[in-house]
Amino acid sequence: MKENYIVEMLNIRKEFPGVVANDDITIQLKQGEILALLGENGAGKSTLMSILFGLFHLDKGIIKVKGKEVRISDPNDANNLGIGMVHQHFQLVHNFTVTENIILGMEGSKVLKIKEASKKIKQISTQYGLDIDPDKKIEDISVGMQQRVEILKMLYRNAEVLIFDEPTAVLTPQEIIDLIQIMRNLIAEGKSIILITHKLKEIKAVADRCTVIRRGKVIGTVNVKETSEAKMAEMMVGREVTFTVDKEASNPGKVILEIKNLSVLNTQKTLGLKDFSLAVRAGEIVGLAGVDGNGQTELVEAITGLRKVESGSILLNDKDLSHVSIRERHESGLSHIPEDRHKHGLVLEFTIAENMVLKEFYHAPFSKNGFLNPEEIKKHADKIISLFDVRSGKGNATLAKNLSGGNQQKAIVGREVSSNPEFLIAVQPTRGLDVGAIEYIHKRLIEQRDSGKAVLLVSLELDEILDLSDRIAVINHGELIDLVEAGETNENEVGLMMAGIKRGEGQ
Ligand SMILES: Nc1ncnc2c1ncn2[C@@H]1O[C@H](COP(=O)(O)OP(=O)(O)O)[C@@H](O)[C@H]1O
Ligand SMILES: [Mg+2]
Repeated sequence: MKENYIVEMLNIRKEFPGVVANDDITIQLKQGEILALLGENGAGKSTLMSILFGLFHLDKGIIKVKGKEVRISDPNDANNLGIGMVHQHFQLVHNFTVTENIILGMEGSKVLKIKEASKKIKQISTQYGLDIDPDKKIEDISVGMQQRVEILKMLYRNAEVLIFDEPTAVLTPQEIIDLIQIMRNLIAEGKSIILITHKLKEIKAVADRCTVIRRGKVIGTVNVKETSEAKMAEMMVGREVTFTVDKEASNPGKVILEIKNLSVLNTQKTLGLKDFSLAVRAGEIVGLAGVDGNGQTELVEAITGLRKVESGSILLNDKDLSHVSIRERHESGLSHIPEDRHKHGLVLEFTIAENMVLKEFYHAPFSKNGFLNPEEIKKHADKIISLFDVRSGKGNATLAKNLSGGNQQKAIVGREVSSNPEFLIAVQPTRGLDVGAIEYIHKRLIEQRDSGKAVLLVSLELDEILDLSDRIAVINHGELIDLVEAGETNENEVGLMMAGIKRGEGQ
């Protein structure tokens, strides 16, 4: 029997300088299904979908829509063929309303009456359970709602095939549940969906079939119901993936980092961190658990020197760092894997080589008599690239912006660890990464612990905190709620503490 495919991409090839992003890829989307596109960072998923949406041109291959070969030269062609895409980074004008954003760029939009558009938007919103107010400004609605505006934009243009590129990366757990429901509504109304994700749980929750891509090639297409998460993970990374972190019991030594009665202002100029005390010893990982926005940022920025300390102190090996420069902190043995890879981690327009010496370039062997030594700088980068498996097209000359997220993070971890710090603060070290990269980064953090470093792990992922930490500190409203041995607590208890309920309190 001939399958009823709505979109087929056959034998697609796309090269970028030094990388074959798509190598003979074939995917077929059935009418009315959710097809997941699974692959590690840099596997080629966004490239493939950008070709389908007309943002990139293919080097080789054929695209068919409803069995007919088509040419897609730009997003307009894609729209006309009923193909819409929600990008990883939304493309909305912040001081425009929902309606203005949706009709923006559409032909005839000048004569189109805002009122009529607004009415149609309301109707679509109700039909698909989107719950959107067309008159609100984008800057006044949540990220989850902004994503729904992007969905509405596709539906307004009568898209039948909807592409979602990593849609849940920016969402809270509740928003993810809502989005999954919206996808089901879309399918019930006759749409077809391609969902890019590296989260196996989500694929299990909504997708019918899953095509796995690794390093630009299709590994296989599976029926999701009949395939385990472990099997899909293995197809994705090319080897078995352990979901639990293997580690020996810790063997903590002396206190390396000591935070004493620390108070720090937040951006509203009230106390974001209040009288906070915590010690991290050599050879242990202390995890800081908490709901986003409970003082973690203030603590991290105070420790790393990005924010002023109001009162209290931060000691590293008994040396007071509370008011010294970022450079002096680094030279005293502090390393920092920052939350925002792009703002504080890497200079995106610099090469990997340059990025690997951002904090060290001014001294030997990278500089001599005020002159940089490019050979030593490249050698240093090559060592990190091979030790930390940083994959890129042009080795140490690759610009940081051309690395995938996972490889950017491996490079940062490599740089921070290679300075051989005594204290390492890792903030959301695996956010947005796929399982292979997460496993890799977790192993490196445990290695740091086992080599006697003091590690403070700040993460919004409770699973990550529970898997990696030896002790868990819980923060709520800027205060330390409790500090417990990881082996003596569980998800429920830490969850309660995150809500501000101390151990033994409540029931
Ligand atoms: N505009 C571009 N220029 C050069 N290389 C690119 C560009 N976009 C993507 N790449 C490279 O192509 C490969 C695939 O990237 P991408 O499709 O973004 O992967 P994914 O979405 O699966 O994470 C990566 O090696 C990436 O560095
Ligand atoms: Mg991508």
